[in-house]
Formats: sequence, structure tokens, C-alpha cells
Amino acid sequence: MSANEMWGGRYAAGPAAVMERINASIGFDWRLYAQDIAASKAHCAMLVDQGIVGAEDGAAIQDGLDSILKEIESESFEFKSALEDIHMNVEARLAELIGEAAGRLHTARSRNDQVATDFRLWVRDRIDDLDAQLGDLLTALIDRAEEEADTLMPGFTHLQSAQPVTFGHHLMAYAEMFGRDRGRFADCRKRLNECPLGAAALAGTSFPIDREKTASALGFERPMANSLDAVSARDFALEFLAAAAICATHLSRINEEIVLWCSAQFGFVRLTDAYTTGSSIMPQKRNPDAAELARAKAGRIVGALTGLMVVMKGLPLAYGKDMQEDKEPVFDAAESLLLALAATTGMVRDLQADRAAMRAALEPGFPTATDLADWLVRVLGLPFRKAHHVTGRIVALAEEKGCQLAELTLEDMKSFEPGITGDIFDVLSPENSVRSRTSLGGTAPDNVRKAAAAARTRLP
Ligand code: ARG
Repeated sequence: MSANEMWGGRYAAGPAAVMERINASIGFDWRLYAQDIAASKAHCAMLVDQGIVGAEDGAAIQDGLDSILKEIESESFEFKSALEDIHMNVEARLAELIGEAAGRLHTARSRNDQVATDFRLWVRDRIDDLDAQLGDLLTALIDRAEEEADTLMPGFTHLQSAQPVTFGHHLMAYAEMFGRDRGRFADCRKRLNECPLGAAALAGTSFPIDREKTASALGFERPMANSLDAVSARDFALEFLAAAAICATHLSRINEEIVLWCSAQFGFVRLTDAYTTGSSIMPQKRNPDAAELARAKAGRIVGALTGLMVVMKGLPLAYGKDMQEDKEPVFDAAESLLLALAATTGMVRDLQADRAAMRAALEPGFPTATDLADWLVRVLGLPFRKAHHVTGRIVALAEEKGCQLAELTLEDMKSFEPGITGDIFDVLSPENSVRSRTSLGGTAPDNVRKAAAAARTRLP
């Protein structure tokens, strides 16, 4: 089929070379082939059921489509950019295989509802892949959180040592984030699961089609209610990208922490050779390249969301060719996110915590100062602000003496608050500090074990 054959009698000449280049989408939308063929098969079956296409032609179309799927999957199919996109490539091949009957498939539909349907199906498939991948990451985080429920480390605010926490608690914070990401993809899936097929070019069709039938054959909840909306809505893709961008942002945070923790300065964790690279010049180096790349993927995924937002902004109804620009950002974002999730899952399982280094990092920075202030409130009944002030003076003294809070004498303490007793030393160890944090959502090791068990029951 040459270009003039595609557009019918009115087109005498083929396109300029640059027109073909800017117009063709087959270079990327070939990825929609399985969805395109599934949607065509559902459409064809419905046309036959409704008596719009004869049973014999319908059977030939179905067989032809099955053969094309096999050809594409065995990589013997030749995609042609002169045929623009996946829809025309499949249809042209169908005509080669079965002759004129192929032309009946496009009754009561247009590429506008066709591409909207294919793309929804594709995004839905990727959401299912992402859901499974997020499930693996959650399992890894929960497993490791249980192992590290008793491991002490400094918790940070402003990247300054703040209070002791457990490494398991820190890992479970990410399990919460990725659990919400999963929920966001599930919500997106619910809203996108309506079928545009049968909206035709923009106005619907005069053929007696059954849109309920095609919708349910393709696993959609229902047909989309408005034909103009059906062919021009891309909020499903934007919502998918928004969920992907948020998830990528979470990935960038955990991977940033892995990069920091692996540094000689932190030394909290070590990644094995499986997830690091060496340097060609510095033999001592173990670079966390996978974590850096997983951190960086947020850039292109947020870019994909921004890019498609700008494409869609201000577009008049209904279809415009601008919308062909919806695919590359979505394809790239989905692929990048799946890869970054898989790599992060691998690293969470691979990383070895250096418990001694984490414990030693609790020595500087007086991370139990809040415990001291809380003791003054709880035992001596001081107002918190006053306790905060007294504690500040005690910390200043420890700083001056170059020692830990627990290394000060009782007399030192009493010089700031005479009511203090020896019992105060009980709360100054990081072990006791975390053990006391039993409030809902707090870092106590028992809490972490319970939170991990609860999160595990939410897994599929
Ligand atoms: N390749 C096109 C796209 O991705 C298919 C729809 C073309 N529709 C049209 N009216 N030219 O958007």
C-alpha cells in the first residue's frame, strides 16, 4: 500500500520525505502491536455478532490477525515507515494475507478510537507489571526490616544526627512510600479502565455496534460515555506518569541514601560486587553506579510528565496529531521505572549493614539529648521548654569536655538542675532510647517487627 492508496482517491502524490519522517510513529508505536491486534479481534467479533460483517470474512480477518501476531513475535514482520503507524502496518499486512475482506475490519472505527484503546491497554499492562515489581521491592524491604529491627543508627533531620532510630524502621519508611505508590497505580488503573473503541473518529457511528461487548471482551469496565472525550482524553497517560514520577522520586531518595551510606564517610552499608563497579584508575573504589542511575531516572520520568502535560495543554477537542507525541514519554517512563525498581530491589537484598559502624555513628552529636529532656519532664515535672533549656546547657558542657552525655558525672548534671538523680543515666543510651519509642509509628524494635508483619499481610 503506498501513501496515496492509504488515503484514497483524492491523494495523487506521496508525501515529502520529511513529511513521512515527522509523521511516522511506527519507530516507537510498534510496541502497541499485541494490544492493537487484541482490540481488532474484539472489534471484528463484535461486527460479526451484530451482522455488520459476514461470518466468513470475520473468520478470515481473525485468522489473518493471528498470523500477523505470530509474524511480529517471531520477528519476521517487516514494519514500514511509509505505512506510518502500527495500525496501518497491521491492516496493510492483513490485506496482503486475506485480500479485500481485510478492508471490512475498519468499519465503524477510526485510528483515533483505535489508538486510544491500544494505548489504554498498553498502560494497563504496564501498571500490572509495575504492581508486581513494587510487590517484590516491598517484600525485600520488609524482609530486610525484620532482619535489622534491632540495628541502631542515627536518625537525621537536616542531615544532622538527630535521634537514634533502628535501621529496620528506616527501611519500613520506604515500604510505606512504595505501598502508597502501588495504591496510586491501582487508582489510575481503575479510572483508565474504560473503553474508547466505537467512538470512531470523534462523533460515534451510524452502524449498530455493541460497545459493551468490545469493552468487556478487552477487560474494560465499561465503554467511555462521550465519543469526543474517548478519542481525545489523555489524562490516563498523565495520571500514569504522575504516579510514575512520584514513585521515581521515592526511588531517588532511597538510592541517594544508599549512595551516602556506601561512602567511606558514612560506611553504614556495603554493596557486593554484583551492584558496584570499580574504577579504571583508583583501585580502592567501589562505585554504587546502579544506585546513582536509579536515582537519576527520576529526571527523565518527571520530564516525561512535564513534556506530555505541555503537549496536552490547550489542545482543542477532539483528536489532534499532537497526541501521537504521547507515546514516547510513556514508553520511556514505564521502561525506566521498571528497571529502576528492579535494580533497587536487587540492592535492598544485596546490601550488608555494617552494624558496628552505624552504632559508632551514634557517638557524636548527642542523639539522646531529647531523651534527657523528656526525662526531666516525665520524672521532675519540668515544663518541656524549661527541660529543653536545661538539656541545652548540659549538652554544652559535654561539648566543652569533649565527652558523651553518659560520660558526664551526676554532679555535672545536678549543677544545672538539682533534682536530677542517677536514674537519668538509664535514658542516655541509644539502646534504651529506641526501646522507649513505643508510640504508634515509633522506632522501637518491637514496633518495627509488628509494622513489618502488618505490611506483609497487605502484600498480594
Ligand atoms: N499514529 C496515530 C497516533 O498515534 C494514530 C491516530 C492517527 N489518527 C489520525 N487521525 N491521523 O496518534
